Amino acid sequence: MSQQGPAFDVNAMTLTRWVLYQQRTAPSATGDLTQLLNSIQTAVKAIQSAVRKAGIAKLHGISGDTNVQGEQVKKLDVLSNDLFINMLKSSYTTCMLVSEENSSVIQVETERRGKYVVCFDPLDGSSNIDCLVSVGSIFAIYKKVSPSEPSESDALRPGSELVAAGYALYGSATMLVLALGRGKGVNGFMYDPSIGEFILTDPNMRVPEQGKIYSINEGYTAEWSPKLKKYIDDKKNPKVGKAYGARYVGSMVADVHRTIKYGGIFMYPATTSAPKGKLRLLYECNPMAFVVTEAGGLASNGNIPILDIQPSSIHERAPCYLGSKKDVEELLTYLK
Ligand code: AHM
Ligand code: MG
Repeated sequence: MSQQGPAFDVNAMTLTRWVLYQQRTAPSATGDLTQLLNSIQTAVKAIQSAVRKAGIAKLHGISGDTNVQGEQVKKLDVLSNDLFINMLKSSYTTCMLVSEENSSVIQVETERRGKYVVCFDPLDGSSNIDCLVSVGSIFAIYKKVSPSEPSESDALRPGSELVAAGYALYGSATMLVLALGRGKGVNGFMYDPSIGEFILTDPNMRVPEQGKIYSINEGYTAEWSPKLKKYIDDKKNPKVGKAYGARYVGSMVADVHRTIKYGGIFMYPATTSAPKGKLRLLYECNPMAFVVTEAGGLASNGNIPILDIQPSSIHERAPCYLGSKKDVEELLTYLK
């Protein structure tokens, strides 16, 4: 008699399997990038578990800085940073790391060095952590080109030189979205907690050509340029057709993921008090611009494509406008 179990898909395309397949079908691949992506995957799994407050007492304690065992409890953003650094160093594939949480670059010990440079924001949207709104991790991967000792200049390169970039969204489910090389498209993998694997659920993600949503922090309207004010005003009061809807989570990963799925435009503009905006070029704007561009959308700082900006310092900021091609193009006609 045959045993009837749950309908498991024995052919499920896991992230590990998918990355391995990409490696095996790329003639010159050494397997290092596969190893590196696996280490990011492990960090993301551990972060998602912590974000979901699995093992609540152990991770958070009930009220303060120590948990029930009396151990020091790490805040989620510190824990996420430690996980990323630890996993990336122990992958033996990186030589230098740039994290939002560390003021200077992180050098990998000589004996554990590999050829990649990774810039990351381990837990973006930290102001949303305590109220359980979605947060995310963002990463950007360069291959080191210079033969010299790793230094800041190995990370100060335009986003157009990225080997890969992606993000993990800890939302109502956990999703990892990956752009693995230029011209290779974007793929989304949903985490299945029952088997502890990311499964390819969103192959070849494409940003709709045009959307119906604008996403910006309107609290700062008084600090915008008159050109941006006019654009937003026209989205709300169109001469023809319906007004755009407004959505703003305040977590870049959630706002960008929605923009990729539903279309529209996400904006973090320059303001009078922050002339370069708020978002960081190396580990927020660039990786998101890379993913959005690979998915058929556009990403600009209002002047030039984000991916063409030559960074001059590791934590520098850039205004960021990204999303559906037609929406970003239209905005740029206003900002001219
Ligand atoms: P963080 O890196 O300190 O978390 O800040 C980045 C976040 C983004 O996720 C989000 O797009 C932006 O800050 C929201 O900023 P604001 O509250 O000014 O709208
Ligand atoms: Mg951030």
